[in-house]
Amino acid sequence: MGTPEHEMYDVVGIGFGPSNLSLAVALDEHPGNVGGRPISSAFFERQPSFGWHRNMLLPDATMQISFLKDLATFRNPSSRFSFVSYLHDAGRLVQFVNNQDFFPTRQEFHQYLEWAAASLSDRVSYNSDVRAIRLPPGTSPGSADYIQVEVADRGGGGERLVNARNVVISTGLVPRMPAGIEVDDRVWHTSEFLDRYGRINPDDIKGVAVIGAGQSAAEITRFLHDNVPHAQIYAIMPSYGYAVADDTPFANQVFDPGAVDEYYNGTDQTREAFWRYHKNTNYSVVDDDVIRDLFRRTYGERVRNSQRLNFLNLTRVAAVKRAGTETRVKVQSLIDNDPQELSVDVVVFATGYDAMEPTALLGDLDQYCLRDSSGRLRVERDYRVVTSGLPCGIYLQGGTEHTHGLSASLLSNIAIRGGEIADSLLRRRAA
Ligand code: FDA
Ligand code: NAP
Repeated sequence: MGTPEHEMYDVVGIGFGPSNLSLAVALDEHPGNVGGRPISSAFFERQPSFGWHRNMLLPDATMQISFLKDLATFRNPSSRFSFVSYLHDAGRLVQFVNNQDFFPTRQEFHQYLEWAAASLSDRVSYNSDVRAIRLPPGTSPGSADYIQVEVADRGGGGERLVNARNVVISTGLVPRMPAGIEVDDRVWHTSEFLDRYGRINPDDIKGVAVIGAGQSAAEITRFLHDNVPHAQIYAIMPSYGYAVADDTPFANQVFDPGAVDEYYNGTDQTREAFWRYHKNTNYSVVDDDVIRDLFRRTYGERVRNSQRLNFLNLTRVAAVKRAGTETRVKVQSLIDNDPQELSVDVVVFATGYDAMEPTALLGDLDQYCLRDSSGRLRVERDYRVVTSGLPCGIYLQGGTEHTHGLSASLLSNIAIRGGEIADSLLRRRAA
């Protein structure tokens, strides 16, 4: 990296999750970036080390995509950053093949991502929270060919200003709680699950409610059933039962690289069809094996006449009341609108996430970023925000479901997307 006074990069990545890690890999491998003047890059990550949804690294959780949709393979099948290359390095390639499973555990994929991130550590600063981006003082929007990035060191090292000709914002999904409900030491969102769980004595949990009917809810219900064997578990869901995630081959094509073009260049009608027919590939749905496992458990309890796993279907949570260690969950049945209260020790909200939202980070720069009639950012095919003439580039990885489709917040397309952004950066530098 440059000296602190003169830090100027061709690209600064904000956040270093799988998306920007994949971009770092794509830049590292880009033919136009080898020899000549390589694109200079720096990535800032607020966590103390690489971490991919660490609080949901539950022991049995598996990936929801094939291992071949890794950081690089779809763009460069001979990449040294592929999952296969990682397995070879870890001495597990042969046994992985014998295991005959396209879907590794999330723990194994996490190890792979950490391994890849470690190879690129010279361009990443951890414990580094990007607080703001702005035009340099005294410049006009038409002439500013770089952006200032303000970075706070969470380890107490003060603030750092770096300059970037382009920024790539990739700060991830935003945990969603129902309106009016706040998290605390007994009311958790799944995004903090293992951390919160680790701070409580499981013996103190006699009753726990898990809210939601998506993958997070089902995995946590199963985890609690395994790990808190004396507790009553209430799975509270708005549907009649968990619905299966469609990962059948035809439907899975919505995550293909080519689907991005069809979505981007399609009409409103095209885009509406993607959502109407294929939302159930990802949202409010659960993998088939987890559903069957949970049903088998509850049925077994019926047979033994010792019910501990309770499913409250067609039910939404309206409020949570806290008093000391007591937590009362106000639930509303969708059958008769009858409000009821449930007293538990812990409530886990598996109520999902909102898409990445860069507005706060954009700050004053937001006024130069163009929006559509629904107020959403306009984004070019190369993931660059459409601006009113800013020479520097603001790219988004995430938050582009309205323009690029269902894979915007997923891993499915990160290898290709990273390559497309790398292409765009090199093309624009040459122009
Ligand atoms: P991600 O959220 O991973 O990373 C963003 C990073 O930015 C974080 O590390 C964060 O700390 C950092 N950051 C945020 N603000 C910052 C700031 N101001 N300054 C510095 N750093 C900042 N998808 C899929 O395709 N297959 C799957 O199997 C799964 N599995 C899965 C499990 C769970 C539990 C969840 C919640 C989600 C998934 N997903 C998924 C979807 C998920 O969005 C995807 O796997 C990636 O996390 C997307 O990677 P990103 O890098 O875009 O975001
Ligand atoms: P999700 O799919 O958005 O599900 C949220 C659930 O909460 C929905 O069932 C929703 O119901 C429900 N809900 C919202 N408010 C509620 C309320 N007030 N009362 C009761 N229910 C309420 O979220 P998620 O399960 O966290 O999944 C998010 C993403 O992470 C997905 O991409 C998923 O695949 C991924 N994920 C992957 C893994 C893995 O790889 N193993 C694990 C976990 C998550 P409505 O449908 O009515 O809104």
